[in-house]
Amino acid sequence: MLEAKRILVLLGPPGAGKGTQGQRWAEEHGWRYTATGDLLRQAVQNQTPLGLQAKAYMDKGLLVPDEVMGGIVEEVMRRSQQPLVLDGYPRTLPQAQKLDEMVKRWGWEIFAVVLFVLSDEEIVERLSARRICPNCQAIYNLRSAPPKNDELCDECETPLIQRDDDKPEVIRKRLAVYKEQTLPVIDYYRAEGLLKEVNASGAPEEVYERLKGVMSE
Ligand code: AP5
Repeated sequence: MLEAKRILVLLGPPGAGKGTQGQRWAEEHGWRYTATGDLLRQAVQNQTPLGLQAKAYMDKGLLVPDEVMGGIVEEVMRRSQQPLVLDGYPRTLPQAQKLDEMVKRWGWEIFAVVLFVLSDEEIVERLSARRICPNCQAIYNLRSAPPKNDELCDECETPLIQRDDDKPEVIRKRLAVYKEQTLPVIDYYRAEGLLKEVNASGAPEEVYERLKGVMSE
């Protein structure tokens, strides 16, 4: 299998650091980083029909319907010429089955599935201090990874924002949805022998070392 056709799937609860670690892995290895949450937020920002539909679900911490998500990911797989880091998909069993189908159809291979493990307390702490750049999607944290200059993006100087779904009541809902709908996906990949687990607690650098460790096993 060509390296260009490999997919690294990132799983884990909201705020576990999938975006932080996935972006770094992609940058250092020349892979393409794709987060379904970022694609949806862009659609919301541009007020496209997809964005208008997705916003109602996202603001409540609910998942966007499977049929909509499959179409978005298939488009990425059809166009990408680079190996993919896929963050945020699949997060239901039907999505995992759909991904298997698309992988076959477009000649890709699921290379590894990495699960980031973090306690609920740390999740809430991290998410309430998260800020993101709405322009380049860079991720910051007012406690653990603050921007150099007030609340401006280090990369493009755009004012940083807090995500609408990082409010405490929505975070709680997202966690409940994760436990109900995404935990079965973990068992699915464990049964296929693809799952690698990473302890997501500790500094981003330490977590990245663990990620590199499991990827080289
Ligand atoms: P999405 O954007 O995918 O959100 P999520 O999975 O809930 O994950 P997050 O982006 O919140 O967290 P992360 O793990 O990437 O953490 P990060 O690196 O940012 O989805 C949003 C919504 O879109 C969903 O609720 C749903 O409605 C919809 N959606 C998306 N995909 C869908 C799908 N497939 N099907 C249906 N609906 C879908 O880190 C978090 C914070 O912690 C940051 O501030 C970071 O700086 C900090 N941090 C990271 N690592 C560390 C560390 N080691 N120590 C201290 N701080 C750290």
